Amino acid sequence: MERLDKILSNLGYGSRKEIKGIIKKGMVLIDGIEVKDSSLQVDPEKSKIIVGGEEVNYRKYIYLMMNKPDGVVSATYDKYDETVVDLLHPDHSIFNPFPVGRLDKDTVGLLLLTNDGELNHRLISPKWHVDKVYYAEIDKKVEEKDVEAFRSGVILDDGYKCLPAELRILEAEENGSKVEVVLQEGKFHQVKRMFESRGKKVVYLKRISFADLKLDGDLEEGEYRELTPEEIEMLKSI
Ligand code: URA
Repeated sequence: MERLDKILSNLGYGSRKEIKGIIKKGMVLIDGIEVKDSSLQVDPEKSKIIVGGEEVNYRKYIYLMMNKPDGVVSATYDKYDETVVDLLHPDHSIFNPFPVGRLDKDTVGLLLLTNDGELNHRLISPKWHVDKVYYAEIDKKVEEKDVEAFRSGVILDDGYKCLPAELRILEAEENGSKVEVVLQEGKFHQVKRMFESRGKKVVYLKRISFADLKLDGDLEEGEYRELTPEEIEMLKSI
């Protein structure tokens, strides 16, 4: 149960004061009955709320999949740069979603955003070993010995030994390679630092999947969509 004015202001119907006004005007019905008290306790999952003749589409949480573009930071606020939250329509940003983990400013691809703190926490916890797959372009030839090094756990510049990771070579030429990397953790700049430890540089990085979710091929960079109920269930079952 929550206060009616809080429910409606969280859904973007205005400030608490404005909501008090529309309630006073008799514009709000709960289960068919006009209400006058903005502090009324309501269960929005069970009650039908109508504002100005239209039924309120109540939900507490939103779950979004974005194809993050280059040059945008994975944060809710940044002093200098545009953030992924700045790319959201007000219908979605009103829920105050935040990114699940981070992609670097120059990394593109699959980024989840939600306001479900519990799910966020579980998805980023190293305890659950959620697979994240990256497509990467590398400045040099990636070889079988790099694959073996990734498999046995690369040691980063700060001495951290990575969990075993899968490195798949898609194309390997002297002047550059295309690969896929499967990680179960997400240390700062991890893919870039793993290749640095092998004397190589990542020149392009895109996350293509997260758990069983694949980046939706219909999403252009900067676009996003809501997850389907099945996709949300899948994430919750991890
Ligand atoms: N590894 C990186 O180096 N950068 C990312 O954004 C994600 C993984």
